[in-house]
Amino acid sequence: MNNWRVKPLDAILATAEKKSLHRSLGAFQLTMLGIGAVIGTGIFVLTAEAAQKAGPGMIWSFVIAGVVCAVAALCYSELAAMVPVSGSAYTYTYAVMGEVLAWMVGWALVLEYAVAAGAVSVGWSGYFVGLLEHQLHITIPHALAVGPNDGGIINLPAMIIALLITGLLVLGTTESASVNAILVAVKVTALSLFIFLAYKTIFANPTEAATHFQPMYPLGIGGVSAAAASIFFAYVGFDAVSTAAEETKNPQVNMPIGLIGSLAICTVFYMLVAGGVIGTVGAQPMLNADGSGIAPGSKELAAACSAIGDNAVVCSKEALAWTLRKVNFATAGNLVGLAAGIALPSVILMMMFGQTRIFFVMSRDGLLPEVFSKIHPKFKTPYVITILTGVFVAFFAAFFPVGALADISNAGTLFAFAMVSIAVMVLRKKDPERKRPFKTPWVYVVAPISILGCVYLFFKLSFYTLALFVVWATIGLVVYFLYSRNHSHVGKGLVEVHEEDADVPPQPVPPID
Ligand code: ALA
Repeated sequence: MNNWRVKPLDAILATAEKKSLHRSLGAFQLTMLGIGAVIGTGIFVLTAEAAQKAGPGMIWSFVIAGVVCAVAALCYSELAAMVPVSGSAYTYTYAVMGEVLAWMVGWALVLEYAVAAGAVSVGWSGYFVGLLEHQLHITIPHALAVGPNDGGIINLPAMIIALLITGLLVLGTTESASVNAILVAVKVTALSLFIFLAYKTIFANPTEAATHFQPMYPLGIGGVSAAAASIFFAYVGFDAVSTAAEETKNPQVNMPIGLIGSLAICTVFYMLVAGGVIGTVGAQPMLNADGSGIAPGSKELAAACSAIGDNAVVCSKEALAWTLRKVNFATAGNLVGLAAGIALPSVILMMMFGQTRIFFVMSRDGLLPEVFSKIHPKFKTPYVITILTGVFVAFFAAFFPVGALADISNAGTLFAFAMVSIAVMVLRKKDPERKRPFKTPWVYVVAPISILGCVYLFFKLSFYTLALFVVWATIGLVVYFLYSRNHSHVGKGLVEVHEEDADVPPQPVPPID
């Protein structure tokens, strides 16, 4: 058997036709799903971390991370429209660069989706615990409110929200998407309120606002790059739209609109929010005695913040609410905090949705056990894999800290984006005649920029994160060679038809040239 075996595009499309999930999503719903997946912990929580790394220069960090995502989205769109089936980067890589790389991408996407879902669950838990305390005066014991790294035993709220979202996904996409649309509205309203009030303050005193941008780069260009690698998390998730391709009406038109539309809207929001934070309260980092920046999330930063009474945005765990309170919009600040608490579950939902669909496709290809792709007779959802994913996410959420989870998620995402960017160029060469409903403009410029951007940000992540990524990839290869390689349907020369057509013997794959 050859490790570079590819799954022919025609076979992928035929498989999807035979066993497709119910097609119910349109362009608007896809854009909503994209915004639901993208705006979340990154902008609401990690803005403070970006400020600590880059100072006002963080505005460029948002631009750098946004540009990398935009070029990757253009590559995604070509493949998503052309191969409108579930599986995202995994499916594209399988069709273009073969099974081993596809497996590695699918394995990396676990980091992107499941680990990110865990990170956002932990972020939500912080808001939830805070809201209970400040609004209802109910205190959850510390041991049950945070994981072991933060001095607790288990993060119970984070675990419970992950399990609740799992239940929602088992009930079905339509219901999930409708709930998601309401939460997206809450989130967008909260950010709009923030932007309105922040710029009202800035325009009331533009001279003072201008001083907040000085010095613009207190930690140099290195700080801006490091912040870009972290804040990249704020963009993670837009590609989750492409994983819904199999459930999309007219995917040739709607997928590119959903992907690029949701990314564009989010980028504009982030730029305005970052500018609003800097212009109103400033974003200067806390420095060590030698002038270097204190590491975010460290005990040193906590001590430095405590010494100034936490009176800086870089010290805040709820940057946007803190900013509004600081400029005398206390009620609005609390409302933004409440909105984040209500809306972050929509991000968890999309992350888990993407993860279950990728596992579903990998199982359908035989790389994971077949039982994973079982569809619920009543709800028509891949319920086995949804529940399994939910258990994993709940585990991450219960025991790991948000910052570490976010960085690990970034590593997996950057790997997957780079692979898709390579795949789009390879397919242009290998199969130039195939109909492309959406073509990446200037593909031989855009795709290489995407690859370079992903590699650049990847290596700006911490050594610890990169080491974990290597360990995860190694485990993935072991699983592949012990299980998946021998069970692969393509490897056996089969196209799987084991659900509705359970009694029909598998069909041979057309010969590969
Ligand atoms: N982009 C998502 C967030 O910021 C993952 O929460």
